[in-house]
Amino acid sequence: MTEATVKIRIRDLHRAFGTKVVLDGVDLDVEAGSSTVIIGGSGSGKSVFLKHVIGLLTPDRGSVEVDGVTVHQLRGTDLTRFRRKFGMAFQEGALFDSMTVADNVAFPLRRLGSIGRDEVDDRVRECLALVHLDGVGDKMPAELSGGMRRRVGFARAIAHRPEILLFDEPTTGLDPVTKASIDELIIDFRESLQSTLVIISHDMGSVFRTADKVAMLYEGRIIVHATPRELLTLEDPRISEFLRRDLETWATPP
Ligand SMILES: Nc1ncnc2c1ncn2[C@@H]1O[C@H](COP(=O)(O)OP(=O)(O)O)[C@@H](O)[C@H]1O
Ligand SMILES: [Mg+2]
Repeated sequence: MTEATVKIRIRDLHRAFGTKVVLDGVDLDVEAGSSTVIIGGSGSGKSVFLKHVIGLLTPDRGSVEVDGVTVHQLRGTDLTRFRRKFGMAFQEGALFDSMTVADNVAFPLRRLGSIGRDEVDDRVRECLALVHLDGVGDKMPAELSGGMRRRVGFARAIAHRPEILLFDEPTTGLDPVTKASIDELIIDFRESLQSTLVIISHDMGSVFRTADKVAMLYEGRIIVHATPRELLTLEDPRISEFLRRDLETWATPP
């Protein structure tokens, strides 16, 4: 990978909570315009990792650089401007129940304040179309299915045209068909928005649908950084164990 194509560079990232070491020297390069999926067991530090990328948590040691800028050194308006590079979608969509779908999507745009009212309306329509939810702007979140709410969360995350999209377990709790359609949507953002994607997943089906590269977090470090195909050929018991558990989850009816 040449210098120019690295969007996110993580070096020797350490983070503990009290005596509990969560990140113990994470190294990872994320290529601009690519899709990187982070896998790892429950509690392995995936969400903590993501929060360091966006500057919500500060490392004990090491660094995250985005476009060559060290995240934990940013303060005040620089940090605010930096965060605008990102769109983040959470597991449950985290919508405001008392606002219409359109107002939910418009919320971050209105807060930015730099975009006129007509343009906000256009942008909301455009983003709802991108997530295949044309015409639902006037509905309330409670009127939508789980998969649709997840899509509204995505529309909100992309409304300010972020360069980097972060997804923390975006398909957890959805049925397999909805999962696949959400995965398809996510991977489309790579083309339609020219965004760099970082996705946390513990579902191998999703990994194969969405990843250019997979990185596995294990005992505080990235132990593999490979394509999904390469992952299957590696004879590492830590990986086989993870894949085996995932297959068991698939085999267990909900
Ligand atoms: N703010 C916090 N304070 C204390 N411990 C935390 C905090 N955030 C995460 N942890 C701990 O860090 C570990 C990794 O958490 P997390 O990144 O959420 O795991 P996951 O891989 O499931 O996303 C867990 O043991 C969790 O309890
Ligand atoms: Mg998590």
